[in-house]
Amino acid sequence: MLKYFYIESYGCQMNIYDNELIITILTNNNLLYVNNIYKADLVLINTCSIRKKSEKNIYNRLLFLNSIKKKKKFLLCLVGCMSKRIDYDYFFKKKILDFVVGPDQYRKLPNIIKSLNDNRYSYNVILSNEENYKNIIPIKLYSKNKVSSFITISRGCDNMCTFCVVPFTRGREKSKSPKDIIKECKNLCNLGYKEIVLLGQNVDSYLWNKKNYIKKNIINNKLKKNINFANLLEIISKLFPNIRIRFSTSNPQDMSLDVIKIMKKYNNICKYIHLPFQSGSNRILKLMNRKYNRLKYINLINNIKNIIPNCSLSYDIITGFCTENYKDHIDTLNLMKYIKFDFGYMFCYSHIKNTYAYKNFKDTVPTYIKKKRLNDIINLQRKHSFLKLKKYVNTVQEILIEGTSKKDKNYWYGKNSQNIIIVFPKNKEKLGDFVNVKIINNTSATLIGKFKSFL
Ligand code: SAH
Ligand code: F3S
Repeated sequence: MLKYFYIESYGCQMNIYDNELIITILTNNNLLYVNNIYKADLVLINTCSIRKKSEKNIYNRLLFLNSIKKKKKFLLCLVGCMSKRIDYDYFFKKKILDFVVGPDQYRKLPNIIKSLNDNRYSYNVILSNEENYKNIIPIKLYSKNKVSSFITISRGCDNMCTFCVVPFTRGREKSKSPKDIIKECKNLCNLGYKEIVLLGQNVDSYLWNKKNYIKKNIINNKLKKNINFANLLEIISKLFPNIRIRFSTSNPQDMSLDVIKIMKKYNNICKYIHLPFQSGSNRILKLMNRKYNRLKYINLINNIKNIIPNCSLSYDIITGFCTENYKDHIDTLNLMKYIKFDFGYMFCYSHIKNTYAYKNFKDTVPTYIKKKRLNDIINLQRKHSFLKLKKYVNTVQEILIEGTSKKDKNYWYGKNSQNIIIVFPKNKEKLGDFVNVKIINNTSATLIGKFKSFL
């Protein structure tokens, strides 16, 4: 009978949350979590499919795990986004994997494990239109620090961007009830967490429409039938005034003015929005099936800047999408120049099997051009980031201390409301404290501070 399990995670924040979910489900069923692969008799690998490189890294990791598996005799289970995509015949025949469980089937894990005689070399990867893991409050064994933690408010995605595999790996969008989200927030508060990050592929399309789930007096003493993302943000920020609240990811086609106004109204909602735009070219946006264009994106950014002038902004960009030409690339650079983001995440386009783009378009842009364009974007962003961060020099920032700086153990690192990383020399403060720090210098990625005073 299996007793000790170990789990490792690749990919996005949602997988980190899912790790905690899996740990909770298994520990509630008398298995014990160990933080050391060599002590485990079951190893779970929580996978990501977003780009070819992610899958390649995981294939390499599987081969490595297989080499120690032979000596250590643990079972290996693959979960997460690759569960629907791997070649079962190959991995089972080679005895590399023992079983596979998809992102909507984690509740079944204990039963599958109990009856492994029958379930060895099997897969359960059915996607569900309902599974939102209600009534499970994840235990926090996996969190890196006890300061900031994630809550997944919706799973899956209905958007069908043509380059994206998520709708196929994670299925339809399923929102979690406000009641369950509030329970998770309370749990984090009781454990001493200071920051909550609300997660969804597209938080702005969050919608809960079950009647009577919310106590009457929560929103302006009126019972609301539908709870959208703006309502949810307001409920949480009111109920937990001492907790910092962040969210990710916003989608330009769904983000409402209401959300921006609620952000402005509540001090504890961080003034930072991650708003992927993917491309500055209308032609490419259309091919990507993004439901906004350049002008709409710029209008949204102008609204954000008007309502919350100190809001920081970041983005995702894909460079070298099918048929992208030099003019499209210049459109992207020009959009960046117009907006001047604080920072960004940029990727070369990866032609992923099963996506709409894979089935219908050709991956026309050669790798060296993708890389060159990516470099242009990185260099431009570095300039913008440096100038943006420079503006903080000589200001005082409120920082939540999240850990010891990786470069120097005598320094703390933390973030301000705008999600900018700040390092400063340690004094008497502790992990999880909010402190005021005077900014004395900057690089393009970090602010350097000097401790001022406790709040
Ligand atoms: N839900 C989010 C994105 C989730 S995926 C949104 O609305 O944008 C995170 C990022 O990975 C995407 O924003 C995109 O920039 C990148 N990405 C997704 N599929 C990709 C692919 N096939 N190639 C390269 N980058 C990709
Ligand atoms: Fe993917 Fe687009 Fe959804 S990027 S996760 S299909 S919003």
